[in-house]
Amino acid sequence: MSLKKNSGQMELEETIRNPGFKDADDGGSAADTSSSGTGERRDSTAVKLDAAAEEYTQLKPYAGMPKEVLLLHSSRARYRVPREILFWLIVCCTLALVAVTITIIALSPPCLRWWHITPVYQVYPRSFKDSDGDGVGDLKGIKEKLDHFLDLNIKAVWISPFYRSPMKDFGYDVEDFRDVDPLFGNMQDFEELLAEMHNKGLKLIMDFIPNHTSDRHRWFNLSRTRDPHYKDYYVWTDCDPASPKPNNWVSIFGNSSWTYDEVRGQCYLHQFLKEQPDLNLRNPDVVQEIIDLISFWLEKGVDGFRMDAVKHMLEAAHLRDEPQVDPDMPPELVTTEWDLYHDYTTSQVGLHDMLREFRAVMDDYSREPGRYRFMVTESYDYEEVDKTMMYYGTPLVKESDFPFNFYLLDLPQNTSGWWAKHLVELWMSNMPSGKWPNWVVGNHDRPRIGSSAGRMYVRAINLMLLTLPGTPTTYYGEEIGMENINITQSQVQDPAGKYNVSLSRDPERSPMQWNSEKNAGFNTQTNKTWLPVHPSYETVNVEVQKEDKGSVLSQYRFLNSLRQSELPFLRGWFCYVLSDTNVFSYLRELDGHKEAYLIVINFGKEFSTTDLSAVKELPYELRVLMSTNANNNQKVFQKSRIQTEAGEGLVIRYSTYTRYHPSHPAQCYVSEKACYLETVGVLYKC
Ligand code: GLC
Ligand code: MG
Repeated sequence: MSLKKNSGQMELEETIRNPGFKDADDGGSAADTSSSGTGERRDSTAVKLDAAAEEYTQLKPYAGMPKEVLLLHSSRARYRVPREILFWLIVCCTLALVAVTITIIALSPPCLRWWHITPVYQVYPRSFKDSDGDGVGDLKGIKEKLDHFLDLNIKAVWISPFYRSPMKDFGYDVEDFRDVDPLFGNMQDFEELLAEMHNKGLKLIMDFIPNHTSDRHRWFNLSRTRDPHYKDYYVWTDCDPASPKPNNWVSIFGNSSWTYDEVRGQCYLHQFLKEQPDLNLRNPDVVQEIIDLISFWLEKGVDGFRMDAVKHMLEAAHLRDEPQVDPDMPPELVTTEWDLYHDYTTSQVGLHDMLREFRAVMDDYSREPGRYRFMVTESYDYEEVDKTMMYYGTPLVKESDFPFNFYLLDLPQNTSGWWAKHLVELWMSNMPSGKWPNWVVGNHDRPRIGSSAGRMYVRAINLMLLTLPGTPTTYYGEEIGMENINITQSQVQDPAGKYNVSLSRDPERSPMQWNSEKNAGFNTQTNKTWLPVHPSYETVNVEVQKEDKGSVLSQYRFLNSLRQSELPFLRGWFCYVLSDTNVFSYLRELDGHKEAYLIVINFGKEFSTTDLSAVKELPYELRVLMSTNANNNQKVFQKSRIQTEAGEGLVIRYSTYTRYHPSHPAQCYVSEKACYLETVGVLYKC
């Protein structure tokens, strides 16, 4: 046997050639065994091959060895056995991997989305940061301040309306939903802001106003001139021009919700200002317009919507009078929303179907990974909690991710532990199971509760906001403890305050306090600010508080980081422990997680000693991780004597595997049950 080199390739000589090749060379087929002649040839070749095999297996394998020889080697036990072992090993490992993956997927609790994890921060654009010196905040101003959110570990920013608007209701009266008001900038500024926010990992939530437009909107002009397509875009009815009140309905801002329009010779409905005519959402064309607008902004990449005033979207078509709260009140004295039961102007049948339709559009844009579009609805239903809860949707049909929870705004009504507990309980006990709670302690429509409850509670309110289960909402300035400004009648800007200064929403809309310089750093160019800056700005501002470890801002930042890094806060149980005149106390715990947290907040008016010795799950000694009074950080209390000053809040961390919730099911809530396997650091459904 020999091998000869031919044009750079190793070739076998005749005796070792593959019979298949040989047959092919002879013009026959290796597979053709039907003719006896070929059969004989095969036999003789096989003998030759066996002999050759014997010879070749003596050779050591080498690179470039011909395939036929390799095959002969490979059938030998020393190669075959390891190969088979390897094969079966790979098969078994693959099967095991698939099984483990399926088990992990089946056992993992659903992932949290961005809006579960981060607080939502509300920017009132007029008041946040003025970049061009006209005294009114703008989009470029917001862009300049994005690092403030990162510094606070906040990833979601809701910006109140910046659409083109005559500003009768400061942007909630929209003239063009597809444009930015020049006061705030232009579309390019918006796009740059959004791009920069996304670069920094921030989400942008827009305000959306489906109930009404401005009376300067193109649709309204076409509707009042009875353009065939637009004539039913608003709610019109015949009325007497001398007394334009087709029924007793009243506007949220006071007086009749009907105004006579000279051009059309009919009355139109406005549940808010007369410059904010209500859209007729019973008209499918109008609903389609809204859907197109939602898509317009989703296409641009916005991450969610805060849906404004949703309960007002539909009105009863029969336009009957609403029942009076006091049936004996003379009808002409019925002028405020509190005088009527809003049976025909709010929460009408069909409203939730419509919101679900909007939701479905948002879901269509949520399919890309990491692009979930979030919806929160605004509806004040006061004591009718069940009405608010309907915005969560049903287990089968999604609606908003959550409706805003405004109950904590009532905290100042009665600063006490049991009242705080009552307000929290209102939400927790009415929320459909499996849903995600949320908490609002301030917005552009309500006096800052830090002012109404008292400055001494500002830190405790933030502490509660950031340690309760669910998503906190922070209105700009709450992170530094900003308070209401005083407004005189002549300074009133808000239309709601023009009738009655005490109803003005200006006090909570004062410019953001950035530093101790001119205009608190809100407008660094001129001396104009659309509302006065709060006189506290020299000490209550971002720059000063950043440097001070004990400041409201530093505590906010600490609590927000704790909330996002410690599983019991995002994933764990929430259980009431105690509430009395002063103290509200609850705990956060997760099965399998050794560290748990006890929160003790004194919302009362005096020093209090709380005895939790009956709570056997708590260790005997408790160390304060953080107090709103920094002097008490690290203090150790016996559980029978936990001391708090009025307005003080404590976060106490303790270690135990004994859980409180199994023996107190009626006092505990969790959105999605999860347990922690500490040894490997994984969460699983349990
Ligand atoms: C919402 C807004 C409020 C506005 C009203 C009318 O309640 O929060 O500011 O005035 O809707 O759009
Ligand atoms: Mg309406």
